Amino acid sequence: MDNNRPSWTSKYAFIITTIGSAVGLGNIWRFPYIMGQNGGAIFLAVYIILICTICFVPLINELYIGKLTKKECVGAYESIHPNLKYVGSLNPITGILISAFYFIVGGWIINYIIKSLTSCNIANYDEYFSLFIQSPIYPCVLTLVFLFICLFVTARGIKNGIESANKILMPLLAVILIFLVIVSLRLPNANLGLEYMFKPDITKLNRHMVLSALGQAFFTLSIGMGALLTYGSYIKEDKSFVKSVYTIIFSDTIFAILAGIMIFPAVFSFGMTPNSGAGLVFVTLPKIFSQIPYGNVVSCAFFILLFCAAVTSGISILEGPCATLIERFKMSRQKACVVLFAIISVFAVPATLSFGLLENCKIFDKSIFDFLDFLTSNVMLPLNTLFLCLISGWYLRIKGSAIINNRLMAFLFNIGLKYVVPAALICLMFLGLN
Ligand code: PFF
Repeated sequence: MDNNRPSWTSKYAFIITTIGSAVGLGNIWRFPYIMGQNGGAIFLAVYIILICTICFVPLINELYIGKLTKKECVGAYESIHPNLKYVGSLNPITGILISAFYFIVGGWIINYIIKSLTSCNIANYDEYFSLFIQSPIYPCVLTLVFLFICLFVTARGIKNGIESANKILMPLLAVILIFLVIVSLRLPNANLGLEYMFKPDITKLNRHMVLSALGQAFFTLSIGMGALLTYGSYIKEDKSFVKSVYTIIFSDTIFAILAGIMIFPAVFSFGMTPNSGAGLVFVTLPKIFSQIPYGNVVSCAFFILLFCAAVTSGISILEGPCATLIERFKMSRQKACVVLFAIISVFAVPATLSFGLLENCKIFDKSIFDFLDFLTSNVMLPLNTLFLCLISGWYLRIKGSAIINNRLMAFLFNIGLKYVVPAALICLMFLGLN
């Protein structure tokens, strides 16, 4: 074993960084708009059921493989079987492709923070957002700035970079979120938003929604691109991590629900619709902020909240490919970060331009941005997770009882690993491709 490998300085550091990875744009940007498009409360109910019954399995599995092998993704798969290194290398590739679109949204957030700080009045929010994302230079620059910030943290290493950033940003995120929830709940007719979130309408239940909830759950828990495997490889040998996994899942779900409680009462209070898709956070909310007292302060707090969430997840996306460059290509951490900046820019810049200059450049009828989102969320994340479950369940024959003390959970883990999760993932990919 490599004695120079870093490890978490404490259990708290592991938990807070893994929660930091999980709580991101997926909770605050993606979860509310996907819930808004899928009927509100019933989506939430399905989502919670899936999290408790299925999603804990691949989460524990990925962390466990990291802890067991103590290697970055490619090395971890290779140590199971030499030929598996090719399967393992899909993980850092997925990380690089996800970064390309995740960091673009990070750039948009920086723009909205600047706008809120400069108290800039915008007349038409729909038009403002589409003109902003279409412009050729500014969004690209902001994407690269956001990438630089995350790589700067990554370059400082596990203890001084990743752990320290999470220890500062996560509590800040929680405080801002609670403040915004209170602001939202005090708006007139806030109860309409709560009803939308918590009063399920069973007639809206459908197959497509169940699979959207599953896809969202995997995305938000950061499963399927080696980020967790890499974080797992930094767990000290003697430490049991399963209890921490429950804390991570619980916290991630609470953050998503609070994000909903922050957004839907405000949306309903101003008579707007919750199903405006990806623009919910960048168009609908700014419209609301412009109509409430101290709107600029609230807007600024909201986008700083999004920024904290995006940074802590962004650094976890980068850590997988970074660890691969360090351990397989024997690079220093700093050099690996410079190389990553160059590689990710190659994908991120065209993806940023796909709203304007490159809007006619289509891959399978999709813009570059949409294609990267589709390829990673619908194909690569489920595929990587499927491979790892099959390898653990059928090749390594890992038993739940070796990892989990609770008998029922160990039993659910065994069934999940071998049958339920692979079947669910195959459905997810099949539906995603149709
Ligand atoms: N979980 C993050 C979010 O909810 O925004 C996104 C993410 C991070 C996905 C890390 C995958 C990953 F490996």
